[in-house]
Amino acid sequence: MTIEAFPTRVRVYPSPLGGHLRVPGDKSLSHRALLIGALVGRPVTVRGLALSGDVRSTAAGLRTLGGRVQLDADPAGLAGTITGPLGEAEDVVDCGNSGTSLRLLSGIAAGIEGLTVLTGDASLRRRPVDRIREPLSAMGARVDARAAGRLPPLVVRGGGLVGITYRSPVASAQVKSAVLIAGLAASGPTSVEAPLPSRDHTERLLRYLGGDVETQVGNDGSERTTLRPGGLSARDIDVCGDPSSAAFWWVAAALSPEREGVTVTGVNLNPGRVGVLDVLEELGADVERAGKSDQAGEPVGDVTVRYAPLGTARVAGRTVVDAIDELSLLALAGALADDGLTVSDAAELRVKESDRIEATARALGGLGIHVRTAADGFHVPGRQRPTGGTVEARGDHRIAMLGAVAGTIASGPVEIVGFDAVATSYPTFLDDFATLGGDVEVLEALGTARG
Ligand code: S3P
Repeated sequence: MTIEAFPTRVRVYPSPLGGHLRVPGDKSLSHRALLIGALVGRPVTVRGLALSGDVRSTAAGLRTLGGRVQLDADPAGLAGTITGPLGEAEDVVDCGNSGTSLRLLSGIAAGIEGLTVLTGDASLRRRPVDRIREPLSAMGARVDARAAGRLPPLVVRGGGLVGITYRSPVASAQVKSAVLIAGLAASGPTSVEAPLPSRDHTERLLRYLGGDVETQVGNDGSERTTLRPGGLSARDIDVCGDPSSAAFWWVAAALSPEREGVTVTGVNLNPGRVGVLDVLEELGADVERAGKSDQAGEPVGDVTVRYAPLGTARVAGRTVVDAIDELSLLALAGALADDGLTVSDAAELRVKESDRIEATARALGGLGIHVRTAADGFHVPGRQRPTGGTVEARGDHRIAMLGAVAGTIASGPVEIVGFDAVATSYPTFLDDFATLGGDVEVLEALGTARG
């Protein structure tokens, strides 16, 4: 067992960011590589896994279900080998802070003969699971949850699944993936329909491993994905860089006229993940995408973002889904733009690691930036530079990192309380922050045991 000290309270001093870097492995892909790798029937090796708390939750969940997961440090993060088969767990599956672990592991549990109980931390236990309970029940699993079936813990008695066509009211990759993963254990094909396309990593990875998955986008913009079970075979998986981690540096670069820009190399350019770049371009930032190649079914390349005067942007519809985890960061960019930023169609933000509409308004409000909230989004008027102040992360990793980026361009130091939430997705954030010229002081740190 090792003891790792992680900063819980930090102070960021204004200092514009610029330079080159790689970011850690994509969290969404890391989850899927482990989860789907466990279902292939032979050992699967994954390189470049994210080191984050969320991915560790998936690995731990798979171990609880009887999978063998061996993780070793490698130059690109973590290398892992995952080996099934999975079966009934002797204990509760603890998904920590990770919604992706909980939803996708539930899809696996639906295919396991026996009982699985899934839970998580206080934040995760406030996030909806009826969105997976309904389709998994329709496939033949017996699924129940707390609060009239809405909230974790979730109890799944799996086995005997049949393929269905499920019409999801939300464009959620977690729901789509949970149903498709359950579909791997079902008799007959499984289809998921949703009002808009969402990130398609599960589909790409299944195809990369030889699976039969088809996607159609209708004239009305809706998405229909169909999986026919079977046919998976083991292949090594290389995980590319996480655009949701790169986004912090891209936005910082777009707001730093004093520096030469930020280049992130080897990053995932899946269109369903880089809505943040589309919005930065609409705002007027200088965005350059280069050197696209294919890695385990995902488009990968290098992206440079440089400052240019920012105007305005309206984010709605499909762009909301493509930038769902970056909308708080974009609020900061909107505040520095001449005419601000408006986000609508984003009610899903209310059920993230926090109610992220309120959390964004509160965090930026603590730095003197006015944000007008709505049921499904927010409006940030332009020409507002953050002042010094305090941001309380309240358990939301993306809010903690938003505070740090705001601090780089603020008119005074910004203190971030609860900074340890960052370990959920980007434990090496402060190293990369320093690489790009960030100026940070650790005010408090806590040791955690890691076995
Ligand atoms: C994720 C999908 C998104 C995203 C989350 C990761 C995934 O959630 O917000 O951080 O890996 O599938 P929803 O599918 O619930 O929108």
